[in-house]
Amino acid sequence: MPLDPTPVPDELKGLRIALLVAGGIAAYKIVDLASALTQAGAEVRVAMTGSATRFVGPPTFQGVTGNPVLTGLWAADGAPEPHVYLGDWAQVTLLAPATANVISSVAKGQADDIVTATLLAARGPVVVAPAMNDAMWSKPAVQENLGALRSRGIVVVEPESGHLASGHVGTGRLAGAAALMKAMADAVRSRYDLAGRRVVVTAGGTREPIDPVRFIGNYSSGKMGFAIAAAAADRGARVTLVSTASHPNHRGIEVRRVETAEEMLRELRRDLAGTDVLVMAAAVADFRPARPADHKIRREETQHLTLELEQIQDLVASLGKETGADRVFRVGFAAEGSDLAAKAAEKMKRKGLHAIVANDISRKDIAFGSEYNEGVMLFADGTREELPRMTKREMADRILDLVRPHLES
Ligand code: CTP
Repeated sequence: MPLDPTPVPDELKGLRIALLVAGGIAAYKIVDLASALTQAGAEVRVAMTGSATRFVGPPTFQGVTGNPVLTGLWAADGAPEPHVYLGDWAQVTLLAPATANVISSVAKGQADDIVTATLLAARGPVVVAPAMNDAMWSKPAVQENLGALRSRGIVVVEPESGHLASGHVGTGRLAGAAALMKAMADAVRSRYDLAGRRVVVTAGGTREPIDPVRFIGNYSSGKMGFAIAAAAADRGARVTLVSTASHPNHRGIEVRRVETAEEMLRELRRDLAGTDVLVMAAAVADFRPARPADHKIRREETQHLTLELEQIQDLVASLGKETGADRVFRVGFAAEGSDLAAKAAEKMKRKGLHAIVANDISRKDIAFGSEYNEGVMLFADGTREELPRMTKREMADRILDLVRPHLES
């Protein structure tokens, strides 16, 4: 591996990368790699096995990455489960050098040190780069273990031939920095196809106050909107979720809680100009009490209570006409009882949307509150795509797959 910096592929810049270092002489080469990635704008965190620390001191990695280094299953501050944190945090994980021993542990699914445990807890793609003596490399046990890793979707970067630390010439030398970075870039390219994009999603049903304790609302659970926000974040987008509902924490999603349609509109306007995709999954009220009471309305006050409702503007239609909205790909949702596609197509046009997802609210097994959904997605260019019954998360990914080609590169 050369000392002069190897160019870092664009896909890795700005990414959260975990480097897992096992105990091989080639561990020193990972210092340069960590440094190059950090300088290119990636955020790098390192975990090392005990024997790796015999080859390179943790302060060296801490120095080049600016982050504390994990060397055991307990973090320096005593926090439990640092492997779960790191596995969750990393958008791509590289194990290098992978020794015969650590490869065997990974193949067995062991999690008895910080490196193997993090690998097991990794949510993103994993790349493994073996380095060992040529005799070890050629043994069936090692090759069978690597076969097991490959069959589970782990990318293996084969070692190179050359002079080995043992003095032999043969295959076993850790692949070069360029090959390691290319393998990581290839592994993330399709997974983070929304990297650098800003996606804004609305979710939940708006609540329009009648008085300080009552509101007009609807049955929307916010699950579909959350699924889209989570899918977009997992694909590398910066995501803002403007929602009336509460949602589980999810890395990469900034949640802005709102109540009314008016508040939702205010939040959407805030950064409309920088938005690439707006997905209006929220069930926004069409009417609200014209004069909400400023005190709790009491039974004794009246026998009959009549509420006067006024129309609320169409948020997505008005946003579409504002400056900066022309480059925002706007996706709406339409909940319809019958004539799904025809009504949705009309709505898409009326609201100036680029696409609309229509679902059938007369069905009890999908939509409101359910984990499942089904429908059809229509595009302003006339194309349409059936969305058969699937989980909301699967549908979220499908919707993003269909939107992705429409974004300017
Ligand atoms: N929508 C909006 N502002 C509103 C109402 C709805 O932006 N005041 C958005 C929703 O978020 C959704 C789409 O418009 O993406 C369709 O919502 P829907 O309630 O089906 O549309 P309506 O305009 O209410 O149409 P209709 O009353 O004719 O069913």
